[in-house]
Amino acid sequence: MSEPVFLEFGARPQEKVQLYRPGAPTAYPAAVAERLAADAAQLIARYPEKRSALLPLLHLVQSEDGYITPAGIEFCSGALDLTAAEVVSVATFYSMYRRGPTGEYLVGVCTTTLCAVLGGDAILSSLCDHLGIAPGGTTADGRVTVERIECNAACDYAPVVMVNWEFFDDQTVASARDLVDALRSGRPPSPTRGAPLVSFRETARLLAGFDDARPGAVSASGAGGAPTMAGLQAVREAES
Ligand code: FES
Repeated sequence: MSEPVFLEFGARPQEKVQLYRPGAPTAYPAAVAERLAADAAQLIARYPEKRSALLPLLHLVQSEDGYITPAGIEFCSGALDLTAAEVVSVATFYSMYRRGPTGEYLVGVCTTTLCAVLGGDAILSSLCDHLGIAPGGTTADGRVTVERIECNAACDYAPVVMVNWEFFDDQTVASARDLVDALRSGRPPSPTRGAPLVSFRETARLLAGFDDARPGAVSASGAGGAPTMAGLQAVREAES
């Protein structure tokens, strides 16, 4: 039987790898770094291994800058003893971590199959025309960013639009236009379910794991709504 071959790897590379964007901060002022460090310590203390806190820390730095900046990457790297390359590899895997400046309201239009065929594609196209931006773009007033999102497991309410990750169900081209107009005018409507809207940066802080005191944010709503339960109801009627 042949002998196994062992390869010796060297030390982890310490190269700096960044998501470069012109104008993006590359370091935090001392006071900001101190505040973030205090927040990060709370999050890191929840895990037996500090590197496990990377996802919450990415949300934390996103709450500071509105997207993942070189400053945020350096902060996470230093706080968790990870290389910048390791932080970037995680940040670029998950689409909730943004690579460019984000408006006060991130409007995500689901264009996965069911939402797409029921109007998601038309809604995305219409919103971009209405706002004069391309998918992924932000309005000049900084209020609204529109992007294409994947299925958010709300297919029974398709087509779905999410604002800062809160649901707006059963949308139409007209209702979605009304929605972004309301957001731009500073009158954010209530989501169909869940908690009231807060800004994108405030949402990122909540996603980092800090207390969410909004009404409806953590309460269980019991059984699903009528569209969710329709299949089960049909089976029960067929069996009776
Ligand atoms: S396809 Fe849009 S929520 Fe599932």
